[in-house]
Amino acid sequence: MKRKTPFILAGVVLQAMALAGMTSAALAGSPQEMLKRYEQQAKEQGILPQGGFSAERGKAFYEARHTGGKPATPSCTTCHGKTPLDVGQTRTGKPIEPMALSKSPKRYSDPEKVEKWFLRNCRSVLGRECTPVEKGDFITFMISQ
Ligand code: HEC
Repeated sequence: MKRKTPFILAGVVLQAMALAGMTSAALAGSPQEMLKRYEQQAKEQGILPQGGFSAERGKAFYEARHTGGKPATPSCTTCHGKTPLDVGQTRTGKPIEPMALSKSPKRYSDPEKVEKWFLRNCRSVLGRECTPVEKGDFITFMISQ
């Protein structure tokens, strides 16, 4: 009995490590994985443009003054910086880290976070959800910055 204990303990520790490893691997994402997801969705909807996503379209979308949303938030730049390299500001004045991946390398890697904010912000700015193409273009632009 005495001798077995260390083996059992080692087994438990190994199992815990394996579980932790698996969990983080399953949860970990990347901007590239987000792009793949939106590309798949765009294909399914038959709206993926020839040539795929475009940083140029993403830039235009980011800077545009949209209609259909809340009058106080006509543009992504209302809260995010004038350019993705700038620090933005919430409506209550709290700073928002830059959107450019080069400045904020942790962005666009947590699918839940990305989807939550796209939904919320697209509704505020456009009065509707963003399409997979708009999301893909947006992230493509941010990766390029
Ligand atoms: C009313 C203010 C506001 C507006 C307008 C706004 N955002 Fe945001 N956005 C935020 C806040 C606050 C966060 C969360 C804080 C953070 O991630 O630093 C956020 C986060 C995000 C994220 C998550 C990024 C990540 O870290 O993974 C995405 C994507 C995003 N916004 C896209 C957009 C797009 C696209 C638009 C324009 C259609 C837009 N936002 C307009 C306030 C805004």
